[in-house]
Amino acid sequence: MEEMKKGLEGVVALDTKISFIDGIQGILMYRGIKIEELVDLPYDAVSYLLINGKLPDETELSEFSREIKNNRNINGKQIEVLKEFDFGFDALDGLRTAISCTAHFDLENNYHSPDANKNKSIKLVAKFPTIVAALHRASFNQKPIEPNEELSHGANFLYMLTGRIPTELEAEAMEKDLILSAEHELNPSTFALRIAASTLSDIYSAVICGLCTLKGPLHGGARKGVMDMLDEVSSIENVQSYVLGKLERKEKIMGFGHRVYKTLDPRARIYKDVARRLSIENGNSYWFDLAEELEHILFHEFVEVKGKPIYPNVDFYSAVVYKYLDIPAELATSIFAMGRVSGWIAHCMEQYDDNKVIRPRAHFV
Ligand code: SDX
Repeated sequence: MEEMKKGLEGVVALDTKISFIDGIQGILMYRGIKIEELVDLPYDAVSYLLINGKLPDETELSEFSREIKNNRNINGKQIEVLKEFDFGFDALDGLRTAISCTAHFDLENNYHSPDANKNKSIKLVAKFPTIVAALHRASFNQKPIEPNEELSHGANFLYMLTGRIPTELEAEAMEKDLILSAEHELNPSTFALRIAASTLSDIYSAVICGLCTLKGPLHGGARKGVMDMLDEVSSIENVQSYVLGKLERKEKIMGFGHRVYKTLDPRARIYKDVARRLSIENGNSYWFDLAEELEHILFHEFVEVKGKPIYPNVDFYSAVVYKYLDIPAELATSIFAMGRVSGWIAHCMEQYDDNKVIRPRAHFV
């Protein structure tokens, strides 16, 4: 038997055509196209690329966007069911339950034909934002806001949260967030989903595996952790003592480090630029300055203490963007999932298309 690698570090589990990461150069590609070339497109176009393997032409894009918009609404009964629960602080618990409800209301739930899977994929991409916004408003006893067909995927989400049409930059920031969150090879949640798909379980069940795995604070939950950390540090003067304290207690600092990237995560660079632009539009550079101070001090302290640098990952400056978009911390991981669901669907289909049950071995000790 092969030697055991803790956390499967460095283990290649399968071939994929969906994305490529070079952790040394800091390169991320979706279907062979660099993230920097995709991030100015509409999220619908990138979702189409991930799921269908190619960028849509104008007709394909308008047809795909039309299908998404036609499926944004959720079953009214579903909200009634969800109101019975108290999802407490993490909206992802609500999203997990809501997707289970969506599956129960979907007559194609346990059909696996290509058409059924395509229809379920469209529903999942379309309904995540509506569910997250409705759950958030239900937690304040507010009625859900109907989706606005005139708005992009990202802009419509912000509108359904507050009823306010977002500014151009806010809408751009949300679209970029969904694109940058959309796909990242065999990260923990995607791998969990592929294991479920490899047993030929249905796409809703596989996506719920992804959601449950994304929730963990060492994975997608880190985005909420960064938002809480920005509140906890509370002033630029406190950053140095905060960082030293965490390192001394050997506690992980959320939003930093990565299993694959040994340089700056290319997504963090783009998020940082969006956060900077939002700070200027908001006329308030506090969150951005605080984050930048954290980045600089941790970088230098890490070199001092560990002899190597540590960089922000996808969850660091995205949390600063959410601060400027007035998004509450408990929605952070659910919004990550709103983007990631397109990558999850792509991996589910790729697993179904060339399947072998994923079943590694263990050394008995
Ligand atoms: C995501 O895989 C993906 O692609 C995930 C993701 C995606 O798009 O799907 O990119 C999204 O999950 C990003 C990561 C979000 N998580 C966090 O920000 C949580 C904080 N980060 C760490 O938990 C950690 O960096 C991981 C989990 C991201 C990666 O951890 P590894 O590869 O298992 O490395 P490790 O935990 O063994 O750390 C190596 C060393 C350790 O020190 P030593 O024991 O060698 O002395 O670096 C230290 C760690 O203590 N370290 C940190 C740290 N990250 C690593 N120390 C303080 N703060 C950190 N953030």
